[in-house]
Amino acid sequence: MKVAGETSAHAHHHLRRHTARLLGTGLAGGGLVLAATLLFAGGGEDHWALAARHTARFSALWFMVAFAAGPLARITRASWARVLVRERRGIGLGFCAAHTVHLAAILLWLGHGGKADAATLAGGGLAYLFLLAMAATSNDAAVRRLGARRWLALHTVGQFYLWLIFAQTYLGRVLAPDARPVHLALAVAMAAAMGLRLFTVLTRFDRRRPA
Ligand code: HEM
Repeated sequence: MKVAGETSAHAHHHLRRHTARLLGTGLAGGGLVLAATLLFAGGGEDHWALAARHTARFSALWFMVAFAAGPLARITRASWARVLVRERRGIGLGFCAAHTVHLAAILLWLGHGGKADAATLAGGGLAYLFLLAMAATSNDAAVRRLGARRWLALHTVGQFYLWLIFAQTYLGRVLAPDARPVHLALAVAMAAAMGLRLFTVLTRFDRRRPA
């Protein structure tokens, strides 16, 4: 009796998700990036913009993992990729937390004389509304309330819209005269993540080889 109870508790432990921990890591990591930039960037006039840049870069990494987890698991069928899929809710919430730190950096930047044009504020603001809606529906109760179809529609459209903002930002950086290798790397990574997504959808990869 006791042994059986321990065994099932053990098995359960291995399948338990780390959603809260991932969310906390996104928040703490983003906060660390923000604090480190403000501490070490030398206090020049553009160190508020640097804080915005570095926090966005940190959250871009979380975004790409969440965005590519599904196709990576379907294509490689590797156990590490399945772990990413199992932890996708936590990775998504970690991204949301990290990107909320980007928002904090933006507000600091705006408060210190930063100027954003109306198109950026509208396009970026809409992205934050999607982010909010996706985070608010990243729990079982919300999935049940919305229904699987509507939940999927919201999270698919939201993810593709966020991808669009990331991709056009990095494409712009690559084409700018002061482009740096990291911009090219991130632009290519964003393109690759979309390539993987489209590949699994267009080839119906998951249906040909059911798990
Ligand atoms: C109201 C909305 C937003 C404003 C005002 C804003 C502002 C900024 C600022 C000031 C920077 C730093 C610019 C520099 O490097 O000098 C930045 C960088 C960046 N932001 Fe935002 N942002 C907004 C929303 C977003 C959203 C929604 C995303 C993604 C979905 C995003 C992704 C990025 C990226 C990828 C970078 C460049 C990071 C790098 O160079 O690696 N931003 N943003």
